[in-house]
Amino acid sequence: MCGIVGYIGQKEANGILIDGLKRMEYRGYDSAGIAVLDKGSIFSLKRVGKVMELAKAQTKFHHHGPIGIGHTRWATHGNVSERNAHPHLSDGNRFAVVHNGIIENYLQIKAFLTEKNYRFTSDTDTETLANLIDYHYQKAPYLSFAEIVRKTLLHIEGTYGIAVMSKIFADEIVVARKSSPLLIGVGEGENIIASDAAAVARYTRCVVYLNDGEIASVRSDNFSITTLHENAVDVIRHELDWEIRDMDLEGYPHYMLKEIVEQPFVIENAMRGRFTADGCSAKFGGISLTPQELRTVDRLLFCACGSAYHACLAGKYLIEKYARIPVDVEYASEFRYRNAPLQRNTLVFVVSQSGETIDTLAALHEAKRRGYTVLGITNVVGSTIARATDAGIYQHAGLEMGVASTKAFASQITILSMLALLLARIHDMDAIAGLQYVQALKSLPAITNEILKLSDPIRMIAEKYYECERFLFLGRQAMYPIALEGALKLKEIAYVHAEAFPTAEMKHGPIALISDETVCLFIATQNELLDKTMNNIQEVKARGGKVIAIVNNDCIAWEVFCDEVLTIPEVHPGINPIVSVIPLQFFAYYIGILRGCDVDRPRNLAKSVTVE
Ligand code: G6P
Repeated sequence: MCGIVGYIGQKEANGILIDGLKRMEYRGYDSAGIAVLDKGSIFSLKRVGKVMELAKAQTKFHHHGPIGIGHTRWATHGNVSERNAHPHLSDGNRFAVVHNGIIENYLQIKAFLTEKNYRFTSDTDTETLANLIDYHYQKAPYLSFAEIVRKTLLHIEGTYGIAVMSKIFADEIVVARKSSPLLIGVGEGENIIASDAAAVARYTRCVVYLNDGEIASVRSDNFSITTLHENAVDVIRHELDWEIRDMDLEGYPHYMLKEIVEQPFVIENAMRGRFTADGCSAKFGGISLTPQELRTVDRLLFCACGSAYHACLAGKYLIEKYARIPVDVEYASEFRYRNAPLQRNTLVFVVSQSGETIDTLAALHEAKRRGYTVLGITNVVGSTIARATDAGIYQHAGLEMGVASTKAFASQITILSMLALLLARIHDMDAIAGLQYVQALKSLPAITNEILKLSDPIRMIAEKYYECERFLFLGRQAMYPIALEGALKLKEIAYVHAEAFPTAEMKHGPIALISDETVCLFIATQNELLDKTMNNIQEVKARGGKVIAIVNNDCIAWEVFCDEVLTIPEVHPGINPIVSVIPLQFFAYYIGILRGCDVDRPRNLAKSVTVE
C-alpha cells in the first residue's frame, strides 16, 4: 500500500526515486509519481499503472536535481488517474507533498482554503495538505520549513506519513508521521527517506525510524527529529537485518515461487538458537517473562489480520492441545472497536509480518490502554509494532516481497508451535514428549524440502482444474486454519472464489454448493478422524464434485475415492499445519499463473495495509 521515497544529497534524484519506487512495488499500488527541484522550481511527473511506465516517461523528462520525492499511490480519495497521483503541488507550486494515510478533515480544510482562493486540481485529501502548508507559509514566511509543516499538522485529523519539499527551502525535506511508517536511511553526504526500508537498502544499511507524532528536517549531511510538540527525541539507529538478495528474483520467475521454495531455510531461521540446552523445550530471548510469570497466564489472546490471523488460529489449536491454555483469536480490526471482555491474567500477542498493519497496531494500543502486557510476533525489525510492544519474537524470515504471504506465514506457525511447546513444558508436558516435539521441529527443514518436490505434480493438478470457478477447502482442527489459508491464497492470487470450512461443517450448508463444477480440497492429514473425513469425501463424490486430497498415508481408499491425491510425509501433529500448507501455496501459485494473473502483485491488494 502507498510508498514514499525521498532523496537529498549530491546525486541526481530521479533515478534513485524511481529505483526506490520499484523496490516498494511489492506493496501494491495503482499509480506513481516523482517531483524534483530543478533550477529553483518543482517539476513533477506522474503515470497511472506500473513504475515501469513512470521510468519510461522519465527518459523524456528533462528536469534533474539532487533533491526530490516520489510516491506509489493506492487510491482512496479520488479515482486512479494522473491528476490524483502524488506528488501534489500547492497552488503556485511552492510546495510538493507525498502522503500515505487518510486526512479525515480534508473537506473542512478544503472549504476553508477555497474561501481563501486556493485552487485544487485533484480529488485527493493530500492536495489540501499541500495548500494548507502554503497557507501557513504565506501567513508566517519567516518560520523555518519544519515549523511551517508542524503548524499545518496541528490542524490535521487522520493518519499520515508525509514528505514535503519546497522551492523556498531548497536544501531540506521535511517528513512526519502519525500511524503510517517513515524512516530515514542515513548515508554519507546523502539521506534517503522512505516508508519502507526496501527503498533505501541499496544505499545504506543504517536507518532511523520515526515514531508517531515526530517530525524531521532532513538535509544532505544531517537531520534533526523532534516531536510535533517540539520535544527532543532520542535518535536510535538500526541496522537492517535482511539481505539485499531477498529483493532479487535470483532466477525465479516470481517472488511467490522463490519465497515458497525458501521455506525450509526460513523455518530453520525461525528456530535458530531457540531450543533449550536439554533439548526438551523452546526458548525465546525476546520474551522477557519468566516461567513463573508465564505460569500465571490463564488465557492468551492473539490479534492479527489476513494470513497472520490464520497462523494465530493454527497456533490456538496447538497451544490448547499441548499447553491446555485457552486461546482466543481476534481479527485485529474487530478487537480495536468491540470492547471485548478480557480475563484478568490474559497475555496478549499481536502477530504481523510487516509490523505496520494499522488494525493490528490499533489492537495493540487498545490492549495496552487496558493495561495488558502485549507481546509481538513480527518479521520486520524496528517496525512500528516491534517498537510498540512490551517485548516479542522476531521471525527472521527475510524480506517477503510477494504480496500474498507464504514464507512469513510458515515462520509464524513455526514460532507459534514452539510457543505451544514452551507453554506445554511449563504446564504438564513431560521431558520425553518435549524431546519428541523438539525433534519434530528440528526435522522441519528436511521435511519441507521433501514437500517442495511436489511442485511438478501440483502444477499438473492445477493444469486440470485451473478453469474451475468454485473451490471448497476443508480441514479438521489445526488443518481448518490451513484450509482457510489455502482458500485465501487462491482468492488473492488467482481471483477465484474459494471458501474454507471445518470438514464436518460441509453438511451444514456448503454441501448445497456441490455439483460437478465444484472442486473440494481436503486437507486430510489429521489422522485421528480419517474415517469421518472419508465419509465427507464420499458425500462430495455422490454429488458429482471433484476431490483433491492432501494425505499422509497410503490408504488404498484415497486412490479409489479421490480424483487427485497428494501424499506428504506423516509428521508430529505439532508441525503438521506447517507442512500441510505448502501444497496449497503451490496450488494457488500455479492456478494464478495458468489464469494469467500477476501473482506477485495481485489486483487491489497491498502488502501492508496502513489505512483503515
Ligand atoms: C494484507 C496482506 C496479507 C497479510 C495481511 C496482514 O492484507 O495482503 O497478505 O496477511 O495484510 O499483514 P501483516 O503484515 O500484519 O502480517
